[in-house]
Amino acid sequence: MNEIIKKTEEFVRGVLENEATGHDWYHIERVWKNALLIQQKEGAGNLFVIEMAALLHDIPDEKLNTSEEAGRRKLNEYINSLGLPSAVVSHIVDCIESVSFKGGRATNLKSIEAKIVQDADRLDAIGAIGVARTFAFGGKKGQPLYDPEIEVRTQMTNEEYRTGKSSSVHHFYEKLLKLKDLMNTDAARQIAEQRHEFMDDFLKQFYREWNGQA
Ligand code: ADP
Ligand code: NI
Repeated sequence: MNEIIKKTEEFVRGVLENEATGHDWYHIERVWKNALLIQQKEGAGNLFVIEMAALLHDIPDEKLNTSEEAGRRKLNEYINSLGLPSAVVSHIVDCIESVSFKGGRATNLKSIEAKIVQDADRLDAIGAIGVARTFAFGGKKGQPLYDPEIEVRTQMTNEEYRTGKSSSVHHFYEKLLKLKDLMNTDAARQIAEQRHEFMDDFLKQFYREWNGQA
């Protein structure tokens, strides 16, 4: 099994080389580490399934593929080439679907392995790394750091989210500050606590400096 993990690491490194959307190899490596940490703290979940799903979770992402269908194909082609039992393959694919695809579709599938990988991915969106990724993403998208003219909204439809005016600071309220309470596992919730506080502190300091205070 270790050989398959190693091979998968090489495959994912290859695919994500030169990715600058916040889905670079190091994001995958952090999610992989987070997932191992959560698994250990929880003392639950099949380690092989968790590691494989963490490594492959962004392979079918729409942002990295010409279409959702193309993303699925890329994942299936790879995972079916490994000679794993079909039950194991579908368990891994289920985990990836729950992490990778947003909204309705995959919300009820949640095995413990899926929950752990989803938490691991969410942990990488908060804390200091979360701050860094947010401004990197915002820069690439061409949105401002902050815009005091834009109303802060925590509830938005997908359509509003896609088309509305926003800023990187607004993204904290739209998504990042909510993630702590969305964690599936106690272990991730605990880790999220401190990272959440860090974002709170970051925002306080940001406004202080924005407003010309010392
Ligand atoms: P995930 O890897 O959790 O699926 P996304 O693909 O949605 O995350 O986004 C990648 C990174 O970019 C994350 O850190 C996320 O918080 C950040 N991000 C997503 N949307 C925005 C946005 N509108 N403004 C700023 N940052 C964003
Ligand atoms: Ni991810």
